[in-house]
Amino acid sequence: MKHDGLQHYFGREDLTPMWVADMDFRTPDFIMGALRHRCEHEVLGYVFPPDSYWQTVSKWLKNHYRISAKREELHFIPGIVSGISFVLQALTEPGDGVLVTTPVYPPFLNLPQGGHRQLVCSPLKIVDGRFAIDFEDLEWRARQCRWMILSNPHNPGGTVWGEEVLKRLADICYRNNVNVISDEIHADMALFGHKHVSFSTVSSHAKDISITFIAPSKTFNMAGLGSSVCYCPNDALRNRFFGYLDGYEVAGGNIFAYVGAEAAFSKGEEWLKQMLHYLEGNVAFLHDYLVDNLPMVKAILPEASYLAWLDFNDTGLSHEELRDRFINIARVAMNDGTTFGGNSFHCCFRINLGCPRQVLKECLDRISSVLK
Ligand SMILES: Cc1ncc(COP(=O)(O)O)c(C=O)c1O
Repeated sequence: MKHDGLQHYFGREDLTPMWVADMDFRTPDFIMGALRHRCEHEVLGYVFPPDSYWQTVSKWLKNHYRISAKREELHFIPGIVSGISFVLQALTEPGDGVLVTTPVYPPFLNLPQGGHRQLVCSPLKIVDGRFAIDFEDLEWRARQCRWMILSNPHNPGGTVWGEEVLKRLADICYRNNVNVISDEIHADMALFGHKHVSFSTVSSHAKDISITFIAPSKTFNMAGLGSSVCYCPNDALRNRFFGYLDGYEVAGGNIFAYVGAEAAFSKGEEWLKQMLHYLEGNVAFLHDYLVDNLPMVKAILPEASYLAWLDFNDTGLSHEELRDRFINIARVAMNDGTTFGGNSFHCCFRINLGCPRQVLKECLDRISSVLK
């Protein structure tokens, strides 16, 4: 999609893709080897996720998220966007309010609207160069809502929400009868000593009102396998949600989804450490590049994952001029900020740093040259 979608989304093919949240890095050998090994058994019939898959998932949840999940509290999900869509279909009605904080990953906006739910947006503030929740605004809007979709860590901008922030968020949602989908797809990639906090672990309220999604997709660059997991500890929510998934038979996985995830979660620790070290180098490179060459560009640098939010408002160029120059002169495809929540994000673009440093440097040189 990252390459083949250029013509469709940007109107030309000769662009360096710095948009879709896939990394340029090869999916690691221990995952590719496991998939090849499965292919050697030349029957690709229906499969169950084996016990070893669930054991590996549980261990990863415990070690990386401090979640002690019982087997019945977990469900396979064929992709997190699908998972969020299933929650909305199973547990909300048309017209129900669904709360998000903007800017945010575009499907969080599109799914509620596509399903004729009422999308309610609470704009994030920027405090000390990072996104922060405006709790007064959020509480006021929460009164009209039944569910919140939280990106934890946040996309775009890679904000790692701290324990106190999540506790306060959980209290507000609990007080207002709002349940929370915590999308933790970027959670394994906390950088620079930041620590991911899983929403359900911050309080009993949080545990009671949440459905959490996790996946190896971003961490190990295997999103095309559609392999994710849902954790739902509250009995009543779980009975309704898992009942929907099983009743409608919408949440099965393919052979490779189980094999790939098991390989990732059982063998991925060392590769992940090295990959994060490389990403930290790219984030530091972006920071230094902007300070030295483009001081008028304000950046929100990721505390987790590989997506940075760039604000070009101080260049004096309009959103359309910037877009035109980036695509047609610099030939760099970044995500348009307005797709993350509308016109208040004019002149903002999301850039993907999951690439060789040389590619990042070349793109920044080209961006820089069209701003001068
Ligand atoms: C916050 C967030 N959630 C979900 C996804 C996509 O998840 P999936 O491919 O499992 O549907 C992405 C991909 O960029 C993402 O950033």
